[in-house]
Amino acid sequence: MALQNLNLTVIVATTHSLGIGKSGTLPWHLPTDLSYFSRVTKRPPPSQSPSTSPPVLNTLIMGRKTYFSIPPKFRPLPSRRNIVISRSSRPDSFNDASTWVTSFPDAIAAAGGDGGRIFVIGGAEIYKLAMEDERTRNVLLTRVEGEFGCDRFFPVDVRDEGNTGWAQRGHEELCAFVGEAVPAGAREENGVRFWFELYQRP
Ligand SMILES: NC(=O)c1ccc[n+]([C@@H]2O[C@H](COP(=O)([O-])OP(=O)(O)OC[C@H]3O[C@@H](n4cnc5c(N)ncnc54)[C@H](OP(=O)(O)O)[C@@H]3O)[C@@H](O)[C@H]2O)c1
Repeated sequence: MALQNLNLTVIVATTHSLGIGKSGTLPWHLPTDLSYFSRVTKRPPPSQSPSTSPPVLNTLIMGRKTYFSIPPKFRPLPSRRNIVISRSSRPDSFNDASTWVTSFPDAIAAAGGDGGRIFVIGGAEIYKLAMEDERTRNVLLTRVEGEFGCDRFFPVDVRDEGNTGWAQRGHEELCAFVGEAVPAGAREENGVRFWFELYQRP
């Protein structure tokens, strides 16, 4: 598929004031959201036949700070291509199975067009680059209730439909997009309520 025809998906958890991070890490502990993230980003796209062998891997694009915020034993995140964006080349001492690139366009080129889904997974600097790219047509939002003293923020309020061009899709469309039966309505974990939502733009 030509790079200009790619369709990128941002996956992010934000507070109502668009907070996403604090002191280099996630401000909340929501295991249900982490396992949703893992399942959704691993699942092959609906267009891929289950018999495709070897299965096409989805791609995760992230900033260097987000990559290093993942505990070493969990990175690269398994069963997905991990593409890390940094202005510097990968440190010589650091040699794992991730792919390092020096720009967002290079990340898209490295993700390629082999049919796997391409997810942009943060953090704030990389979300900004993704939301400025017209190929980003889907935002899988985990909307988190409460404020957590965040110091990193998502750049666009996709819920402000009149001004941003983004529109929330219904629950059935969310389930079809992620390929699983997402429970409707609010979830609650560790005293924090949150919702799984899908926003799209043409
Ligand atoms: N709530 C969520 O869903 C979620 C998801 C992901 C992350 N987070 C949080 O977000 C925070 C991290 O976000 P962040 O904004 O500080 O960092 P980030 O976006 O993860 O990474 C920033 C780094 O990306 C590289 N970079 C940025 N723009 C670039 C460009 N145009 N060209 C080349 N490289 C570029 C630079 O790496 P170098 O410095 O190496 O050059 C920069 O320091 C953490 O708190 C994390 O927990 C939250």
